[in-house]
This record gives sequence, C-alpha cells and structure tokens, in this order.
Amino acid sequence: MPKLYIETVGCQMNVLDSELVVAALRKEGYELTRVVADADTVLFNTCSVREHAEEKIYSALGRLKNAKQANPDKVIGVIGCMAQNHQRTVFERAPYVDLVVGPGQLHQVPELIRKVQQGAGQQLEVSLGRKDGSKQDITRSHESFDPLRDPTMRPTPFQAYVRIQIGCDKFCTYCIVPSVRGPEQSRSPEHILAEARQLASEGCKEITLLGQTVNSYKYKEGERTTRFSDLLYSLHEIDGLTRIKFVTNYPKDMTDDVLAAVRDLPKCSKYLHVPAQSGSDAQLKAMRRGYTVAEYREMLARTYEWIPKVAVTSDFIVGFSGETDEDFQMSMDLVREARFKNSFIFKYSERPGTKGAQLLPDDVPDEVKRERNNEMLALQNEISEADNQRFLGDRVQVLVEGPSKTAAKKEAELGVEHPVVQLTGRTMCDRIVVFEGNRRQIGETIDIGIYDANAHTLFGTVVTQHVGPELVSLT
Ligand code: SAH
Ligand code: SF4
Ligand code: F3S
Repeated sequence: MPKLYIETVGCQMNVLDSELVVAALRKEGYELTRVVADADTVLFNTCSVREHAEEKIYSALGRLKNAKQANPDKVIGVIGCMAQNHQRTVFERAPYVDLVVGPGQLHQVPELIRKVQQGAGQQLEVSLGRKDGSKQDITRSHESFDPLRDPTMRPTPFQAYVRIQIGCDKFCTYCIVPSVRGPEQSRSPEHILAEARQLASEGCKEITLLGQTVNSYKYKEGERTTRFSDLLYSLHEIDGLTRIKFVTNYPKDMTDDVLAAVRDLPKCSKYLHVPAQSGSDAQLKAMRRGYTVAEYREMLARTYEWIPKVAVTSDFIVGFSGETDEDFQMSMDLVREARFKNSFIFKYSERPGTKGAQLLPDDVPDEVKRERNNEMLALQNEISEADNQRFLGDRVQVLVEGPSKTAAKKEAELGVEHPVVQLTGRTMCDRIVVFEGNRRQIGETIDIGIYDANAHTLFGTVVTQHVGPELVSLT
C-alpha cells in the first residue's frame, strides 16, 4: 500500500480540507503514516494568513530536499492557501516540489499525483485571481471540495466540520483570505442539511459549521432567502445531533435573529467567536472592518443581555499600520471590559497583495509588536483564569472527545492503551475539561464536577449518580 504523510496548518477550513483529501487518497489505496521518511507522498496543507506560517512550510520543504534526492519517486505536494498565494514561486523556491494545488482544486489531488508518477512533471492547479476573469468564472474556480463524507475518515466519529460558506468578500486591508479563498459563496441549505443528516446517521453528535464570516451566511433561491438563523433552526431538527457550533462570526452580522436562535435552540453551543481585531476606531477604519468600537460594544452588550451565560472569544491584531500607544491601550481597554473567555492575539504581518501592503506602511517596529502582544496576552490570561475559576465546585456537562494531549502522547510513546485514562472534552460553551475516565466514555456527554481551573483548562472528576444536589449546573 502506498503511504501518505500529511501536515496541516491554518484554520479549521484546512483541517476539513485535509480530511477530505485523505479520504479521497484512502479510496485509492493509500494508508497514513506519521513518519515522513516512510511516505511515498508528502503533502503540506498550507496557510498564508501570516508570513511565519509560510516560512515554516519552506523550512519543512527544505528538510525534504535530501530525501527527494535519495528517492526521486517520492511525491511532494504543497496544497491549500499558500499554493494559491505563491503558485510557481513554490517551484522556484523548492524545485523538487511536484504538486502545487489551491484550495479550489483539491478534488484533483489523486489524479495529479498519478500524473506526476507517470512522468508528466510538475503539476500546478490553482484558481483565478480576484481580477482575472468574470465574477462567475472566478467564483466557480474557487468552489471547494465537499464530497460525501466517509465516517471512518473523520478525526473522531462523533464530531465533524461542515462547510457552509466558502471565501470572503470583506477585504479587511490586512487579510489575504479573500485572495486565496476567493469570493464569498454560501452553500445551498439542501446540501448542508443533507451532509449534516448523513453525518448524524453515521453517529456524529457535534457539527461545527465553518465560514470566514459564518453568520453572514445567506442563500437566495428564487423568492426564498435562507438566513444563517434559518439554517440553525433547520439543523436543530436533525435527530442524533446534540451540539451545533459555528465559527467565525463577523461582528456586524451578529443580528438579533442569530442571537435568538443561539439562545432558544438547546443544541446550539453557547459560544461565539466574534473577533474585534482592535479597540481603536482609527485602527478599525484602517483595517476596513466596517464597524466602530461603539458598535462592537453594543453588539457585545446585546449578546450578553440575550444569552447571559454565553462565552465570547475574540481575535486581536497588534502593531497594525499606524497603531499608536493610545490605540493599543484602547484595545487593552476593550479586552479588560469585554471579559472574553479567550482572545487569539497576533502581531501584524504584512501580506503582499493586500490593500494594507499596497497602501499602508508596516511601521510598528517588531519589538513593539512583541511587547504589545505579550502585554495583551498577560491581561487576557488573567481574565481567562478568573473566568474559569468561577466554575470551581460546579457541575458541567462535557462531550468527551478522547485522551488528553498528555495521555495521548504517553500512550503513543509506550505503545499501550489503558481503559482508564486522562480524558478531555468540552462544555456547551466550549470550555476544555480534563478528567480521569474510562475510554468507553469517549463520545458520550457526561457530568463533571470541577475542582481546579487555570486560564485554559478546567479540571474535574466524573460525577456519579449519588452526588448530592448541592452541585448546580452552570452550563
Ligand atoms: N474570517 C475570520 C478570520 C480569518 S484569519 C474573521 O474575519 O474574523 C484569523 C485571524 O488571523 C484574524 O481574525 C486576524 O486576527 C488574524 N490575521 C489575519 N490577517 C493577519 C495578518 N496579516 N497579520 C496578523 N494577523 C492576521
Ligand atoms: Fe479576512 Fe476580514 Fe474576511 Fe475575516 S472578514 S477572512 S479577516 S477579510
Ligand atoms: Fe490560513 Fe487559508 Fe485558513 S490562509 S487561516 S488556512 S483560509
């Protein structure tokens, strides 16, 4: 059997894409290996959102140069966002790469590998650029790969990602995603519902809907328009599904109908990732985010009012063009005030091809970016820890995902699996819980009593039937 090694970086879109590529290659007889040296085909599913992510791939490719020389039959492929972004440059920087395939052409991967093996030489398949054709042609060239799912291919049989939206048209000035993922397209509700029903019939309990601005989902067919909230109500009807999550939300589209759906639908996760990016109006304007800080605050206040126990998370960029100390302090004020469950904080990385790179100087020194990043991270960690501490003594409901990272690593090292193991799972508001349990509990929803907490994790024990009523459920 040919062996495939695949490495995935970037967002959940890439995780899903890799799952689908692996499934397609398994159908062709491939089996997965974790060892690059053993692989007949090596694929990197890449991300272009920051320069660092791209450079790491070039370093990984550099390490393969000798292996390829020793074994010229090894097929090396770069797929995903960086393939779309760099195209031939990948071949220039790493001439021994055989395949460069964009996110819109992933269904061709098995055939392209065959072509390489038959001696057809380097293969490049990418979508049209955002100015390289008619809107319809560009849109079509970016259509993503969502074949029917194969349950044995998913990372866990009871959890799955479902793409509901492809691409992005928001064009935030710092962001490469609209170039590499193409125009915003919403998938038809029929396709989404069919996929979700199929997943549920195969034992899937939790689905996570994916879109760059997932709550902007809108599908028009004749007279009928399906909004994101309509889709949530339809998905909620599906028997077998117990949890519906979705990422990432666009602040401006957090409308009352979406909040009402999250509040009223018991299967909807009470967790909203709504990136603010900055707490300064000048910065939001330079980023072309399309809202002011006051509007973001209003959205947040409305969210907490409608769904008091909701967990909100955010992304911030520090050191974007022109960010002064005052601008940064305004972002810090927002973090302090909003009490996000967590924030992902990024140092601005200029992306060639974006409006930001064309029009705005990358003028905050790297040292300042680093300091601001650390300062904001420290504040957010303090808040996250205090937020998690509120759960001490409470009982929470957890969907058990599998052995914790530490346990999985230990098991892999020792090559043995014990029935009783440290497990991890998530609450309805996406808090990570670690506890000692039985492997049989994986995939089940169980009650856990919380006895310890740090910024990122709750620690607990399985609650058995006879535990007294003094433990109240918070989530
Ligand atoms: N579609 C999502 C985010 C996609 S990218 C949204 O609109 O929220 C994920 C995160 O990476 C962004 O939220 C942003 O915080 C960060 N990011 C994007 N481009 C970046 C850049 N050029 N430099 C640093 N961080 C960036
Ligand atoms: Fe990038 Fe903005 Fe689109 Fe998010 S909304 S993917 S940050 S352009
Ligand atoms: Fe990166 Fe592409 Fe996602 S650029 S963040 S992997 S859509």
